[in-house]
Amino acid sequence: MRTDPDNPARPAPGTVLCALDEVPSPGSKGFRWREGDAMFAGFVVRKDDLVVGYLDSCPHAGWPLAGFAGRYLTRENDLILCAGHAALFKIEDGACVAGPCPGDKLFAWPVAVRDGQIVVA
Ligand code: FES
Repeated sequence: MRTDPDNPARPAPGTVLCALDEVPSPGSKGFRWREGDAMFAGFVVRKDDLVVGYLDSCPHAGWPLAGFAGRYLTRENDLILCAGHAALFKIEDGACVAGPCPGDKLFAWPVAVRDGQIVVA
């Protein structure tokens, strides 16, 4: 997946992703768009008052994080887990705290909550 900001499949700011209530707290939800040959995949994580978004591309090898299970969080819902090689990332800032890419971070995908909906910021 292209991680650059000029990816033509990247949804425009203001695009509504879903209702806030569709994402449990703590919980996560993934989104995908295609434009020609380009694809954009991102996900949001909600935990208490925090709602953050990241590209669905692991900084280790570029694989999607959720894998076939469709899950982005650990069973404890306290960290983001990459299904590829089990890297763990902090929900708050995407920093890798365990696994094969120490010092790396998930690629931020800014989102916001407006009128009860999660939108691309
Ligand atoms: S691709 Fe995510 S840990 Fe390797």
